[in-house]
Amino acid sequence: MRIDIVSVLPELMESPLQHSIMKRAREKGLLEVCLHDLRAYGLGKHRQVDDYQYGGGAGMVMMAEPLASCIDDLQKQRPYDEVIYMTPDGQRLEQPLANRLSLKENLLILCGHYKGIDERIRQHYVTLEVSIGDFVLSGGELPAVVLVDAIGRLLPGVLNDETSALFDSFQDNLLAPPVYTRPEDFRGWKVPEVLLSGNFKKIEQWRYEQAVRRTKERRPGLLEEE
Ligand code: ADE
Repeated sequence: MRIDIVSVLPELMESPLQHSIMKRAREKGLLEVCLHDLRAYGLGKHRQVDDYQYGGGAGMVMMAEPLASCIDDLQKQRPYDEVIYMTPDGQRLEQPLANRLSLKENLLILCGHYKGIDERIRQHYVTLEVSIGDFVLSGGELPAVVLVDAIGRLLPGVLNDETSALFDSFQDNLLAPPVYTRPEDFRGWKVPEVLLSGNFKKIEQWRYEQAVRRTKERRPGLLEEE
């Protein structure tokens, strides 16, 4: 999969994409992430990318022209399955959306800044708007990294244990059960006996019950979803 990201602050995304699972995905050639500095398409001597909003009001708006030129250039090189705009008023990112996007070939992500991007880009270029939650961040860069991580870890071969993403919280509308590692007894706090029993059927049953209990306690709404 290839993901192109357009931003006025690409540096903000470099580090998270160079570590851990994202690093592994990129090194294995399973995921290619390319950052594009919108400033390169800025207008005039100062490479302007934003301007005051029509109608007045505080805050700058990202201009249509640099964004359109950048997207046009990228679209000449490959067809995109989705042109995604990260915005707090978009569709909420949840596991099913990450699952769906992980099956795509090429994604283009636009990061807004300031008051957002000119509405005409949303109308004429963007095919999907994504929010990472009901709070406002200062730009779309961190949300874009969240989206890339959520997608990248689902690509076959990225996680060490291929099956482990299947048991994440939210796949099956269940939160994940508790997990333990050595030592068996830490300050008198013991690992549940069943996990040491070697009886895999019982262990599976216990994990399922714990997952259901945790979901009922913390996110009862999930159990009612399809
Ligand atoms: N940009 C600013 N806040 C955001 C959010 N919550 N989700 C996606 N993009 C954003």
